[in-house]
Amino acid sequence: MNDAPSEARFIVEGDTVSTLVRTQVAIVGAGPAGLILSHLLAEAGIESVVIDQRTRTEIESTIRAGILEQGTADLLRTIDPNTRVDTVGDRHDGIELHFGGEGHRIDFPGLVGRSVWLYPQHEVLKDLLSLRLAAGQDLRFGVIATRVEGVETNKPRVVASTADGDELVIEADFVVGADGSRSVVRPAIAGASSGGYFREYPFAWFGILCEAPPSSDELIYSSSPHGFALISQRSTKIQRMYFQCEPDADPSALTEEEIWSTLQARVPGTTLRTGPVVQRDVLRFRSFVARKLRHGRAVLVGDAAHTVPPTGAKGMNLAVADVVLLGRALKALLQERDTRLIDAFAETALNRIWKAQHFSWWMTSMLHVTSDASEFDQRRQIGELKSVVESEAGRTFLAEAYTGWPIDA
Ligand code: PHB
Repeated sequence: MNDAPSEARFIVEGDTVSTLVRTQVAIVGAGPAGLILSHLLAEAGIESVVIDQRTRTEIESTIRAGILEQGTADLLRTIDPNTRVDTVGDRHDGIELHFGGEGHRIDFPGLVGRSVWLYPQHEVLKDLLSLRLAAGQDLRFGVIATRVEGVETNKPRVVASTADGDELVIEADFVVGADGSRSVVRPAIAGASSGGYFREYPFAWFGILCEAPPSSDELIYSSSPHGFALISQRSTKIQRMYFQCEPDADPSALTEEEIWSTLQARVPGTTLRTGPVVQRDVLRFRSFVARKLRHGRAVLVGDAAHTVPPTGAKGMNLAVADVVLLGRALKALLQERDTRLIDAFAETALNRIWKAQHFSWWMTSMLHVTSDASEFDQRRQIGELKSVVESEAGRTFLAEAYTGWPIDA
């Protein structure tokens, strides 16, 4: 079943060592997509090698978003019944949309019978890394993929360089690019059509982590005449908050007082609990879908295949949905020689990807104020927000998308 991959070492040029590893699935990227896929494959008795250019500490400490859809939380519970999603994480049964001086709660269980969990992505990664390593997964850090070859053959290869400067070649039955928005696998799949479909936005988010207790029990998405703000959380002691800024904003340019007055002006009616700002960053907004998700024996998943602006909290959830589909398709292909699921993979995954693209774009455009917005635009936007919160159908649409569509949809 899950034998260790075979490995052979050669001296290629001078004293450069080249190692050839044979496995069934080569996974580039040890983010949520790559790690969950390696687990699903191992469960099915399929061996994989996972490489990532980052160190384990870098992977575990990069601050990303924090919302898990119901389906993502359920999957993490099946992967590890002792998952910290329910102990360290926090169930959220709604969000508040704030505009025109008033808050409007969207009640998820009441509308769609589902919830979301606030559990930061880097905590998910800590759990998955320790679980995979304990299970004996071949997982190599500090290994930089340089190119992918032979995707049109039955033996595609990932060529990489290790932290010692040696060459590592992974020969597999299938290659998976789970290597983020600057994917090295993508050119082998996209070829000349590498551009993909994309959209830039004329704003970004200024994000902070601060040492303060929560200012609100649930997340507040606030659209104000000054611009958008999101009041999110991390724990009882650390909070995550964002406000709309210019795409080229310098995260170090504002004093802490300026940060707090900007945030507070955008959430009238809620008194923010302040504390030392321990981290600040600017998140660029981009929507992107690769033109091709699969070519021969290679596929793209997660951010390598698509990027969404953070407003709908869809990034990691979409990556998880991709690999659930891919896990089933690779199982059918590699164990039963059944190509139907892998042939349908791109179309099936794109169905959800474009719905999530729409939702992320819609939440973004509905809640942000552009600098050239006319009075018509601003009044229309309030009309749009009211047509959501004042209608059960509108609230249900939002709740359904936010908590996540069933994975097969
Ligand atoms: C976060 O907590 O980082 C977060 C939450 C919801 C979003 C985006 C980011 O929509």
